[in-house]
Amino acid sequence: MATAIVVAGSINMDLVVHTPRLPVPGETVLGGNLQTSGGGKGANQAVAAARLGSPTVMLGCLGQDSFGDALFAGLENAGVDCSHVKRVPGVNSGVALIGIEDGTRDNFIIASGGANRLLHAADIESHADVIAGAAVLVCQLEVPLDAVQAALQLAKQHGTRTILNAAPYCEFPAEWLALVDVLIVNETEAARLSGLPVHELEEIEHASAVLLGRGVGAVVITLGARGAHYVDAHQRAYYPAYPVQPVDTVGAGDAFVGAFAVALAEARDVEETLRFSNAVAALATTRAGAQAAMPTRAEVDAYRQQWE
Ligand code: RIB
Repeated sequence: MATAIVVAGSINMDLVVHTPRLPVPGETVLGGNLQTSGGGKGANQAVAAARLGSPTVMLGCLGQDSFGDALFAGLENAGVDCSHVKRVPGVNSGVALIGIEDGTRDNFIIASGGANRLLHAADIESHADVIAGAAVLVCQLEVPLDAVQAALQLAKQHGTRTILNAAPYCEFPAEWLALVDVLIVNETEAARLSGLPVHELEEIEHASAVLLGRGVGAVVITLGARGAHYVDAHQRAYYPAYPVQPVDTVGAGDAFVGAFAVALAEARDVEETLRFSNAVAALATTRAGAQAAMPTRAEVDAYRQQWE
């Protein structure tokens, strides 16, 4: 089956502890049992797309350690093609330390790049054919920037649509924006990128317009429990989130991005793309874990029927 989506990005083992409250700096809090599960923004987005039934390829890097073995197997079980994932001996696979507060479900995440830091432009360039053959490329900012730049450039050269999820925020060359068809950011990332406040609808619209003016094809600002806002040269749209009782919001943004990529590959219109992506993100918050929480297409269809 032809590849619909290629994700170039990070793969982490998430080490998760629930606590009655998140610690303040210098404080120790006692939490519950340690849970380990597949994570990493890139891998989460790849799993989201694959669970929705899109043929998906992962370009990333893992150590040859036990976390690497488990992460590789987990991705393959979810239907992600890992035949181009690089394995490097003598380096730890990426790890994220995650605390989740019991009542609010707020979280903190500290990621240790490990093998993710060894994914470079040459690795991406050696898989130019994979990017050329895909409908959509998805990148984030958890791997070295030269790898992201190579992936975006190759996609542009070959007419593959590009999504940049600029997370976690870091400075990157402004000329990248001309390579990006859809920029997806949350409120914090949008504020950092635009240098503007991003909370009220008017502020969201203004920041979106500023980012659009820098050369991307479309700007999506995800608003968590408030939904998502979209703007391109021809239209602007806002769709509220679906009502949900969240268990764990880690990876919900990645669920949105993976779903958006699927909808883009399927050439859905903006309204349908946002509703679909919002539904996938909402469902992903109802289960523990990042990759483990990604819903199937049948689950998404059933959930939407219930609410629409
Ligand atoms: O977006 C959530 C992800 O961020 C986690 O799975 C963690 O691994 C970090 O990469």
